[in-house]
Amino acid sequence: MTLFNFTKPIIFIGFMGTGKSTLAQFMAQKLTLSFVDLDQFIEINEQQSIPEIFATRGEQHFRELEYHYLKEALQQFDIIATGGGIIENDASFHYLKTQQNVIWLDCDIDIIYQRIVNDSHRPNAKSKTKSQLKSLYLTRVSRYNEIAFIKVNSSFSIQQLYEEHKSRLISIREHKVVKLLCRRRCKLYKRNSQAKG
Ligand code: S3P
Repeated sequence: MTLFNFTKPIIFIGFMGTGKSTLAQFMAQKLTLSFVDLDQFIEINEQQSIPEIFATRGEQHFRELEYHYLKEALQQFDIIATGGGIIENDASFHYLKTQQNVIWLDCDIDIIYQRIVNDSHRPNAKSKTKSQLKSLYLTRVSRYNEIAFIKVNSSFSIQQLYEEHKSRLISIREHKVVKLLCRRRCKLYKRNSQAKG
């Protein structure tokens, strides 16, 4: 079984409506790891909703923000759910390519369409027909594929997906706990030797 690199964050990528935030958050809760949804991280930091950013500053500017906050999120959180269009930006795409634990969630376009049709919070889905969405999806697939460490079919329920991938993730958590304990012990050791010296 391929294991993730436990010292690095876990990043969820994939098209809109594939369940990135839901699964990432669920796993973070189960494994008591920190989690951030990149869109929400941008909204909080910029004090503007995603549709407002698209409308007032444009998609290109949003992509630059996405790149900036992606780098910040990777420093601060264990699990990150990215927005479906993050790979549109070359800088984000190349940066994600250097990351190790990238999980690509993918599912049938009919399921995606049902989940996001006319979602007013998603400017790139709003007013799109199924065939327009499918075209957008097809332009992105090769980039998701290029950066993914594993691909997960997210047509299943959250619980089913979690059960399937639990063993991989639990080993990440165990290693993290061991690392933390080692760090704490090192600090204590340093403090004690300084006190003695
Ligand atoms: C976008 C996807 C959204 C969000 C923005 C643009 C896209 O994230 O970043 O609306 O272009 O695919 P989700 O994938 O979480 O919906």
